Amino acid sequence: MGQIRSWWRIIRSIGPGAKAGRNADRLFRFYLIGALDEIGVFRYLEQPRAYGEILAEFGLIDGDYTREVLQLLASDRRNVIVFADGRYTLNPKVPRPAYDELVAVTPKHIQPFISLAEGLKDSIIDRLRGERVGVTEMFERGEVSLSDRFNTLLGAGSYSAIRAAVFDNLPRADFDWLHGKRLLEMGCGNGLETAEIWLRFQGDIHITAIDRVPKMVGLARINFGPTLDRLAPDHPPVTDENRPLFEEGNAMELKYPDGTFDAVFSSIMLHWTFDPRQAIRESIRVVRPGGLILGAQATKPLVNPFFDLVIRSQRDSHGFFWAEEYKRWYRDAGVSVRPVTPAGIIGVRKPDLEGSSNG
Ligand SMILES: C[S@@+](CC[C@H](N)C(=O)[O-])C[C@H]1O[C@@H](n2cnc3c(N)ncnc32)[C@H](O)[C@@H]1O
Repeated sequence: MGQIRSWWRIIRSIGPGAKAGRNADRLFRFYLIGALDEIGVFRYLEQPRAYGEILAEFGLIDGDYTREVLQLLASDRRNVIVFADGRYTLNPKVPRPAYDELVAVTPKHIQPFISLAEGLKDSIIDRLRGERVGVTEMFERGEVSLSDRFNTLLGAGSYSAIRAAVFDNLPRADFDWLHGKRLLEMGCGNGLETAEIWLRFQGDIHITAIDRVPKMVGLARINFGPTLDRLAPDHPPVTDENRPLFEEGNAMELKYPDGTFDAVFSSIMLHWTFDPRQAIRESIRVVRPGGLILGAQATKPLVNPFFDLVIRSQRDSHGFFWAEEYKRWYRDAGVSVRPVTPAGIIGVRKPDLEGSSNG
């Protein structure tokens, strides 16, 4: 029953997973092509050019990322460049996408991602040139920073639907059990997530909300109260007892001793970390035996390659991984998960001392 509700929630909010993935991919393709166009790559490719010549002309470094970008553009179904006889050339048969067309064909629920892609566009060239821009700098630089863009994007509905689906999927007994417990929220973003979780428990929960980016933590701290008032004007009072603790923290290196929390929650965060496997290990370590591990993480193949390359323009981000890896990394850390829906929703007990766990 829980799984059906969870599926229904995801389909209603983001549509069938493969279609949502394709729509997002079209959008990120537009920005990847736009970034290269701005520095003149396609004009240069009016003549056939070898890989090394392209690197030299634009000051790009040789590496997996650069190779993947060129290979993807040449092998895409609508390939704007062609690779033949060891050289890349502009494909005159495939026009570069136009902004108006992009907006016209992008469904409303995907459109908020335009701002995110726009914010990441410059990082694509930085990454191709081997410049090191850390996650915090990347989130905080620019007239409209990525943190500001996220502040809007995270309120756009799909992220709320995904975390609601995490709780839809949770058996009633587990939900009841979680009342009054200590929950670690990893990658809390702008605090909307914290407020939504807090309201789900009518304040009867002790949340520690962490994010790697100081500006996001600041936003979360500021947004939490007003968000409660906006979402549920009659919410229970926030007291010293139930006020969430907002802290800077890196999911890959949690400062908390083993078993500090009764539950851990993370949603659409792991692909941003440099080493999601380590973040998974850490999240399990800080939950006490028999505690709950809750989360959501979209994975490949539903997340398509352009989306992945744009996220990886932030070189501290691992990028999207395969559904099989997601399951294996949990299994290696001693917890067996069965992700539900294209949003990769999980809800599982950490094995207790007798070693029992459920998916
Ligand atoms: C896509 S947002 C999702 C935010 C929130 N979970 C939601 O769904 O509304 C990903 C968040 O993860 C944070 N993040 C990235 N790397 C992190 C890390 N290593 N540790 C903790 N948070 C991280 C980012 O700063 C960002 O706020």
